[in-house]
Amino acid sequence: MRVAVLVSGGGTNLQAILNAVNDGRITNVTICGVISNRPDAFALQRAERAGVPGICVSRKAYATRAEFEEALLGAVDSLKPDLIVLAGFLVIIPPEMIRRYERRIINIHPSLIPSFCGDGFYGLHVHEAVLARGVKVTGATVHYVDEGTDTGPILLQQAVAVQPGDTPEVLQRRVMEQAEWIILPQAIDAIANDRVSRDSNGNYFLTTD
Ligand code: GAR
Repeated sequence: MRVAVLVSGGGTNLQAILNAVNDGRITNVTICGVISNRPDAFALQRAERAGVPGICVSRKAYATRAEFEEALLGAVDSLKPDLIVLAGFLVIIPPEMIRRYERRIINIHPSLIPSFCGDGFYGLHVHEAVLARGVKVTGATVHYVDEGTDTGPILLQQAVAVQPGDTPEVLQRRVMEQAEWIILPQAIDAIANDRVSRDSNGNYFLTTD
């Protein structure tokens, strides 16, 4: 299965995917390309180091949002992906892309959806909000992408404890280590090996062989 990874920043989730492909925790997958909306994203260097084609499609390079979205979709199409993974991609996905790749786009979100998600909840802001509210359990979610923000069907979640005195940065790191870097590779491997099922409620879950 050809997998395209879309990124905006440091790319630690991309790295977790690349590592999992290398050591066999993800099978039947070729990472066919990495697309960043930011030219300076460290994720592009990680792609280069791994010998994966990197493409930058920056909003600033286009006069209008429509032209940017067309270029983004063109870049995605050029990779001929079977699955698109949003790994810290902080761009609203064009509706046309969601239609064209229905149930073939997944996203990693750094909270237990439906808590701390939706507009404005991305990156460190999520963990700031978690600490401001004082919840004791947070985590991460892998979900299919639909036309809403963080509203698509949930595939996998992992809980992580909030500790007294956590800073947003410390909590972000723990959520990455104990949840994101584990469940995102697991979800990709499950999709690539046909281990995603739906139950009688219509909900998605992973099966084991
Ligand atoms: C990750 O924590 C990811 O869950 C989050 O951005 C970070 C990217 O880190 N995504 C969102 O907040 C999406 N709403 P990375 O570039 O090191 O993988």
